[in-house]
Amino acid sequence: MEEIRIGVSGLGGRGRYWIHLLQTIPGFRIVAIHDPIVALHDVARKGLQSPEHVKACSDWGDFLGDREMEAVALCVRCKEQGGMAADAMEAGKHVHSEVPAAHTLEDCWRIVLASERTGLVYQLGEQTRYWGFVDPWRNLVASGQLGRITYCEGQYIGYYPGLYFKDPQTGQAIMPHDLSKNPQARGTWLNDMPPIHYLPHELSPMLKVLDDRVVEVVGMSTDAPSFAHPEIGQPDIQAALMKTEKGAVLRMTTGFSQPIPEHDHHWYHVMGTKGSVEWRRSDRDMPRLWLADAQMHDFAEVDWRYARTDAPPEAWATGHGNADYYPHAAFRDAVSKGKALEFDAYKAIETAAPAILAADSIAQGSKPFRVPDFRPGSSRPRGQAPANP
Ligand SMILES: NC(=O)c1ccc[n+]([C@@H]2O[C@H](COP(=O)([O-])OP(=O)(O)OC[C@H]3O[C@@H](n4cnc5c(N)ncnc54)[C@H](O)[C@@H]3O)[C@@H](O)[C@H]2O)c1
Repeated sequence: MEEIRIGVSGLGGRGRYWIHLLQTIPGFRIVAIHDPIVALHDVARKGLQSPEHVKACSDWGDFLGDREMEAVALCVRCKEQGGMAADAMEAGKHVHSEVPAAHTLEDCWRIVLASERTGLVYQLGEQTRYWGFVDPWRNLVASGQLGRITYCEGQYIGYYPGLYFKDPQTGQAIMPHDLSKNPQARGTWLNDMPPIHYLPHELSPMLKVLDDRVVEVVGMSTDAPSFAHPEIGQPDIQAALMKTEKGAVLRMTTGFSQPIPEHDHHWYHVMGTKGSVEWRRSDRDMPRLWLADAQMHDFAEVDWRYARTDAPPEAWATGHGNADYYPHAAFRDAVSKGKALEFDAYKAIETAAPAILAADSIAQGSKPFRVPDFRPGSSRPRGQAPANP
């Protein structure tokens, strides 16, 4: 198999895990690594099979200028994430980006336009859309068994106090309660980012289930700073109400700074005029299904899991219930074999733009916003910037 010559930018926990994946899943050869924190280059090198053949860069321009590199794996955590993806495509590189796709609407448009103008592959590495329950839920919706979909919920309430502050020289995480002992600590992007920006793991699987896109958004938030950890600059909970093109109402919620029980920080629910499905509430619970037309007086428990029953051996032991394999395989097959992406740049941006606008809504007293249609059509030819972005 032709190997894709790929560079990895962002050498934190996730970038180093991607280095492992890119050397485990066939079809990739890592040729460069990049992070402004130089101390992380050696840490990342320890995970490389042939470190002597890999160039390490601290400058983004040097990294992008590498002529051998034909694709960029973007594992940075910063406001510029979307702009960097567009930079990379504009420099002639295919892009496989970690989530979320972008943090500004301008960068959403830059990604769409760069992918249209260059024809290069842009894949968002959102993996929960490959979880085991997603396709059966999608089939229930597509076959009409749930009737007309009226309501859908997704929430990601995790607890990551170690992600908000770092030592800028070493990249070491610093806990909020250790800040006084570490005056060198600096807030990470998470300390500035409205939590509702992190909706890819909710919008991606649920929009796949609904085969729909968000057209209208309004948001609301608890107050900042965090009540749970006042050192953290962001609120504990942000929620968005959204309306889809097909007319369903969504409730999407995020929060990353307050304690929760371990496991299952995601939760989903889809309700239609003829039935509903619901994710489990804890590890001791089960997902549920109820169909109005099936003589069911109550919900039935169904053993849907994150792991798929049909995962190929290559996927076994990849993270998030084997799901981390699928975006990498899709990216590889799109670049190497020209196979069309199921999760293309438009669908990727449809997971980012409503989240960005939810934060804008919160900042403007819960003002409602329309979500632009990023697909080309009669009002915007392919490759042309929109008249009113
Ligand atoms: N798909 C998933 O399940 C999943 C899980 C965790 C994280 N993520 C995503 O992966 C990405 C990385 O997460 P992480 O936990 O490794 O974060 P991290 O903070 O541990 O590491 C991010 C790295 O990016 C570097 N970086 C920051 N700004 C940069 C810039 N402008 N240019 C180059 N490098 C820059 C930092 O120096 C840091 O080393 C984030 O986008 C995050 O949202 C996805």
